[in-house]
Order: sequence, then C-alpha cells, then structure tokens
Amino acid sequence: MKAWPIALAALLALDVGDARVAEPDATNPDLAKPDAQRGKRALFTRAFVPAPWPLAAYDNVWKVWEPAAKEKPADYDQAFRRRYGLHPPPYPNGKLPMGLREGRLLFAKGVATDCLLCHAGSIFGTSYPGLGNAALDIHALFEELGKATTGSGRLPFKFSNVRGTSEAGAFAVYLWSFREPDLSIRLQDRYDFELRDDLCEDVPAWWLLKKKKTMYFTGTTDARSVRSIMQFMLTPDNTRAVFEKEESTYADIQAYILSLEAPKYPLPIDRELARQGEGLFNRTCAKCHGTYGAKWTYPNKIVPMETIGTDATRFHGLSRKLGEHYNRSWFGAKYPSMEAKGYQAPPLDGVWATAPYFHHGAVPTLHDVLDSNSRPRIFTRSYGTGRDDYDAVKVGWKVEALSQGADPKQPGIERRKVYDTTQPGRGNGGHTFGDHFSDAERRAVVEYLKTL
Ligand code: HEC
Ligand code: HEC
Repeated sequence: MKAWPIALAALLALDVGDARVAEPDATNPDLAKPDAQRGKRALFTRAFVPAPWPLAAYDNVWKVWEPAAKEKPADYDQAFRRRYGLHPPPYPNGKLPMGLREGRLLFAKGVATDCLLCHAGSIFGTSYPGLGNAALDIHALFEELGKATTGSGRLPFKFSNVRGTSEAGAFAVYLWSFREPDLSIRLQDRYDFELRDDLCEDVPAWWLLKKKKTMYFTGTTDARSVRSIMQFMLTPDNTRAVFEKEESTYADIQAYILSLEAPKYPLPIDRELARQGEGLFNRTCAKCHGTYGAKWTYPNKIVPMETIGTDATRFHGLSRKLGEHYNRSWFGAKYPSMEAKGYQAPPLDGVWATAPYFHHGAVPTLHDVLDSNSRPRIFTRSYGTGRDDYDAVKVGWKVEALSQGADPKQPGIERRKVYDTTQPGRGNGGHTFGDHFSDAERRAVVEYLKTL
C-alpha cells in the first residue's frame, strides 16, 4: 500500500496504543450513561490519531523556520506556541501545547494532534478548552513538522487559507473519498466528493452546543449525533469495529462538551448602557439569536441565504453526493445529514471571547458585525490573544487595515496573516441587521453583548 499522506494519518486514526488510559470499566453499571468527567479525561489524556511525527520533529522544527534562526530560540516552547498559534494546557501535557500530545509512532515516541488543536484557545492569558482557536496556523504546523520529519512538507490540500481558520470540512471530504458506505477501504479510484479547500471555517465555541438542536454552521446534523463528531477518525487504518467500540467514548466527550459554560467578560461593564442595549437587542436580534438570562430562549433558526447574505462559499461547500454517501453509512444511520437551508443563527453566550465573527471569521469586532459599512476590507492582526491584542471598545481583536492583499513573494506563514475579504470564501457582506442603529444605539448593544 502506498504510504498514506502523513498529514492524513495525523488527523485521523485512533491511537490504540493509548486506549487503556480511558478504557471504559466494564464493571461500571453507569457505562451506558454518557459521563462528562470520563469525556474530559478522554480528551485530556488520549490522542485519537496515531502520531505522524517523531518527538524529535517538535524539538528540531525551528531549523526549517523562515527567516532562518541561527540557534534554537531561548524559550523554545513559547516560541513554538507563538509561531503556530497554540496555547499552554490547563492539564498535564509535558512541554507540549494544547492540541498536541505524546503519542506512539511505530515503536518510538511521537507527536500526535487532538480535537483541542482547533477546539481550545486562550484569551487574556487563560486557556479554555472549548474556545475555538482563533490564532492557529494549522497549515504551517503540518507543513513544517512534515518538513522536519521527512524533508517534505507537502499537504494534499490547503489546510488553511488564512490564519485562525481551517479547512475542517475538506478533511472530512478527503477521508470519505477512501471509504465505501460500509466503511471498508476503497484503495483505487477514490470517490470524488468535490473537495473544496476555500471554506475558511472559524471554529465555533463548544459551549454553544447545549442550546442547539442542529449543529454545524448550516445546521445539517442533529446536535445529538455522536457519530458525526467521530469523522476525524476516518483514517484508513481504522476499521468499522474501532468506530463501534469508541462510540461510547465519544458519547462521553459529547457529554463533556455539553457541560461547558461560556467564560464571563473580565473587564468593567457599563451596566446602565448595557440595559439600554438589552431593549434594542430584544426588539431587533432576539427573534434569531434568542434571549439571555435565567429564563433564556433560543429559537434554533436556520436563516435562508437571501436573508442573511453572508459569504455563501461554506453554504455550497459540501456536496450533496457526500451527504448521500454519509447517509448510506454507519455514520448517518441514526442521525442522517440534512440538506443545507442557510446559516444557523448561533447563540451568543460568551461572544465577547469568540472574535473574529461569522462562520468564516471575516469580521474582527462586534461593532463591525453591527455596521456592515465599517468592516475592514483587508486587514491583519497580531494573532496574540492577550489584553493588549484586544479591542474593548469595538469588542474583538485589534486589527490593522491594509491597502492591498498579501505579497505573493512572502512565505505562506506571513501571507496567511492577511485576511483579504476580496478572496474566495472570505466575503464580508451580509448580516446588515445593525446598520440602522445610531452610534449610541450600537454602543449600547455592544455593551449588552459583553454581558452574555
Ligand atoms: C481542524 C480543526 C478541527 C479539529 C481537529 C476538530 N474540529 Fe470540531 N469543528 C471544527 C470546525 C471548523 C467546525 C465547524 C464546522 C462546520 O460547521 O462546517 C467544528 C464543529 C464541531 C462541532 C459542532 C459545533 C457546533 O456548535 O455546531 C463539534 C461538536 C465538534 N466540532 C467536535 C469535535 C471533536 C470531538 C473533535 C475531535 C475528535 C473535533 N471537533 C476536531 C474544527 C475542528
Ligand atoms: C434574521 C436573523 C438574524 C437577525 C435578526 C440577527 N442575526 Fe445575528 N446572525 C444571524 C446568522 C444566521 C448568523 C450567522 C452568519 C454567518 O455565520 O455567516 C449571525 C451571526 C451573528 C454574530 C456572529 C456570531 C459569531 O459567533 O460569529 C453576531 C455577534 C450577531 N449575529 C449579532 C446580532 C445582533 C446584535 C443582532 C441584532 C442587531 C442580530 N445578530 C440580528 C442571524 C440573525
């Protein structure tokens, strides 16, 4: 068999070597009941993919960095985290950041990735599992660790077009092209599911899932589906039996996700202004985003494209052919994938922490969400996540507007720091529901959003 691309192996199989760590205790009568603590333990202690790189790749990758470093950076773990947009873990993980962990590579130690690569972030110096990682350059991470391992960093498609977003959908499409509906492997003549790698997906916060009846940006899957979030294990080395065996682990992980709460805004809030904003919000926004507080409501609305008007690339991005294939498989047996009807209006809990905004992160602040004319066309930011990188007035990331797109002569890791809304998948139009506000009204609504 031809070697599976390293990157593919990285993302997807199950690290059976680690299985004993979270092996369910068969004598436990609660086994059938999903358990958040068990799910948390699985997430924090297991790699669900085999290690694609030896541990040495972590220590040596600085040698392939551009511009070339003369010697290993002094605080290496921190330099590594900064370069790729990774964060210190709030759980024991050796020297590795959240999202990477020690795994097994044949008979040696290796570095593997896990869900927290994309689904854990940091803000004001605190790391939060469940906060989407808005700093990550996943393309650079895989490319450069690949180079440090084999000399070649070639990836089968773009893992990301712009820093902080990833082509998560393309991973699934790519993996499914090797699978029959009965989950056996198709070695020749792979399926063509019209893979697109320009969806520029901004990772949704996990703490929102508990309010949702449907998940994913287009609401195409029942939020109760456990199997759907196992698609990252579709690497060719996993048999159907592995999926069946691990379904209960993923039910535990889902229970952990459903137990998460949004972090509270840590800076001062003008309560009187926020109260005025609440009234405006409830009149203008609540019909799609719900109401907040003890008696919250959430309407679970999928808003048609002609009403929402945000970039349609993600909406059209996953083919019907793939959906039908999924539905003929074990994955779609209980909760089939449904046709996309628009974008889901997400709950806004903890929205102060989840900039940039919309499914593709095209809008850096809440102020700009509420004034479509003030949105920057081409911009960059520090990609740091500290207080100094944060704009507490507009609420979101401080950005620097640029007059032109990225210089094609720059290395990819620099080019991906430029968000160019004229590029495919990155349009910043639509969602004009705040345009009619006066400046004072908009300030009040933004103040209210800080309290959610
Ligand atoms: C490469 C980055 C990446 C990795 C790794 C990743 N995810 Fe995600 N995840 C995403 C993105 C992006 C979305 C939004 C996808 C969409 O709607 O198109 C998402 C969506 C989800 C959702 C639905 C959230 C919602 O509110 O709609 C869940 C649940 C989820 N992921 C769980 C997991 C689990 C569990 C793992 C590990 C097995 C994982 N993810 C690994 C990027 C990632
Ligand atoms: C007709 C329904 C609708 C109305 C009314 C509406 N929104 Fe939205 N909103 C959406 C949808 C759908 C999205 C997701 C769009 C996307 O990701 O492309 C969204 C996204 C957002 C986001 C970004 C969330 C994130 O995590 O990226 C914010 C913030 C937001 N809306 C705030 C508001 C406010 C404040 C109002 C009232 C002024 C409002 N919305 C009115 C449907 C609506």
